Amino acid sequence: MALTPLRLLEHRVAQGLHDVFGPMPSLPEVLVQPTRDPRHGDYTCPAPMALARRLRRPPDELALRLAAVLDVTGICEAPEVVAPGFVNLRLRDDWLARRVGDLVGDEALGLTPAPRPATLVIDYSGPNVAKEMHVGHLRSTIIGDCLANVAERRGDTVERVSHLGDWGTQFGMLIAHLDEVAPGAGHGEPIAIGDVVTLYREASARFRADPAFAEVARRRVVDLQSGEPRATAAWRSLVELSAAENRAVYDLLGVKGLVERGESTYQPLLAGVVADLEAAGLVVVDDGAKCVFVDGFTNSEGDPLPLIVQKADGGYNYATTDLAALRARIEGGADRLAYVADAGQSQHFQMVFAVARMAGWIPAGVEVAHVAFGLVLGEGGQRLRTRAGHNVRLADLLGEAVERARAFVVERAAERQESVPDEVDEVARVVGVGAVKYADLSQNRNSNYVFSFDRMLSLKGNTAPYLQYAYARIRSILREAGWAGGPPEGTVAVSLDEPQERALALDLVTLGDVIERVAEEYLPNHLCAHLYDLAQAYHAFYERCPVLRVDEPLRSSRLALCQVTATTLRQGLALLGIEVLERI
Ligand code: ARG
Repeated sequence: MALTPLRLLEHRVAQGLHDVFGPMPSLPEVLVQPTRDPRHGDYTCPAPMALARRLRRPPDELALRLAAVLDVTGICEAPEVVAPGFVNLRLRDDWLARRVGDLVGDEALGLTPAPRPATLVIDYSGPNVAKEMHVGHLRSTIIGDCLANVAERRGDTVERVSHLGDWGTQFGMLIAHLDEVAPGAGHGEPIAIGDVVTLYREASARFRADPAFAEVARRRVVDLQSGEPRATAAWRSLVELSAAENRAVYDLLGVKGLVERGESTYQPLLAGVVADLEAAGLVVVDDGAKCVFVDGFTNSEGDPLPLIVQKADGGYNYATTDLAALRARIEGGADRLAYVADAGQSQHFQMVFAVARMAGWIPAGVEVAHVAFGLVLGEGGQRLRTRAGHNVRLADLLGEAVERARAFVVERAAERQESVPDEVDEVARVVGVGAVKYADLSQNRNSNYVFSFDRMLSLKGNTAPYLQYAYARIRSILREAGWAGGPPEGTVAVSLDEPQERALALDLVTLGDVIERVAEEYLPNHLCAHLYDLAQAYHAFYERCPVLRVDEPLRSSRLALCQVTATTLRQGLALLGIEVLERI
């Protein structure tokens, strides 16, 4: 199958540079990469600029020499050199038209597997047992799920892992409390403990207030760690109860294929992790705790900050577990590890990665990344909370989005004096959940974002409902033309005479490049921005270019543009984890 335009041009530019300057093995790849640049044509090649600095030659001279040898015959118009040293490239209309023609009726949209597919383990969601999932987990789930979809789409082998917080000293107090309020827990008797969150609150209140209880709790941690059956059974019932609550959220979000592999999984490996670090000479004992000091990390006083891998009491840390998990993932064959977790954990991950590197556990060619994200803020700019000041329950948040979407559908039907559609529940779910996801994904994940139901559910602007609505409108045109199942005839000749047709076509053939970028940089907002551009290009096209009211062959050519646009929107949204509807 065909290369994306960007890859095609990269090859040609690299060839051109080679012809002018001979082999340049040391040339960083980025110097020769053309980029899409709507201000300068379709693509611009800044290579001569960077090269000029490197070779100490005037940039325009290099640009002219590159343009003279660059072979883009049949693909682009003659390269254009502009000051101070850019080579601009404009795809030929006939080339673009043929490209779009090839995509008509093609569910795969001409996307080809990445040249070097990765084996990616993507760690996301990771809620904590016996605690409510909060908006941070929502962000992690939405972003992680999208990035996993995108990686799969470009041909990577992907494992989706939820690193549950299912181990630690807090289970001592939970088990001690359960021993009393639900002694049958985990022994086949129904567990009358209400929800886990209340249980957690009660247990921690007692732990703080009652020293005797705290003592029992500490004993129960030891019991759990040594596998005492009743403690283990109680722990398991907590894990299951939490899992059931989380599942409701995952079901609503449509998250599938997430493997729950919690911190407890790695317990048997932790002693080995510490022993290996010691054998490598990396461990310093400080106040009884086993520490690894990492260059460049200091505390607020400027003193060297260690990663503690074993506490003075012998217990292990979150960091130790992450080191064990990292090792297991790499041993399992992963060559890309991504951790989708809030920016507040940045130092943790940077230190874990640094220690793993020092220990030689990250071989060359394996890439590890903390895919960080910012906070979800309320409309007043503070952290999102309920009016009473509590964490917002995710089920409530999603439920409200769905309810608001439903109210909107009902209202609109009333305005138009139509009856409420039968599938109102389905519409409300798809629009409501889609809106929440898109609002998150369309922001650069590194920023905080303000959670606003009104904005995310608006039909105007860069929102899911806007894109879903655009999709439904295109589908209705296609149905009317008898194109609902694709083009009635095998091939369609596409012509691009109006500038709006050409602009739309350009957005249609560049999806593969965008997917590649999202996968490389772990930035879903580029895909959102592309789909939004596409929908806008479609609207501009639709305003200017009648579709159903023109004669053949123009009618089919324009229907082809509509059909590929609809497929691109549907597939693009699916990568974001968002569904579409035939009618809204
Ligand atoms: N349980 C953690 C939290 O709630 C998230 C886990 C992230 N993944 C990891 N491998 N540490 O913040």
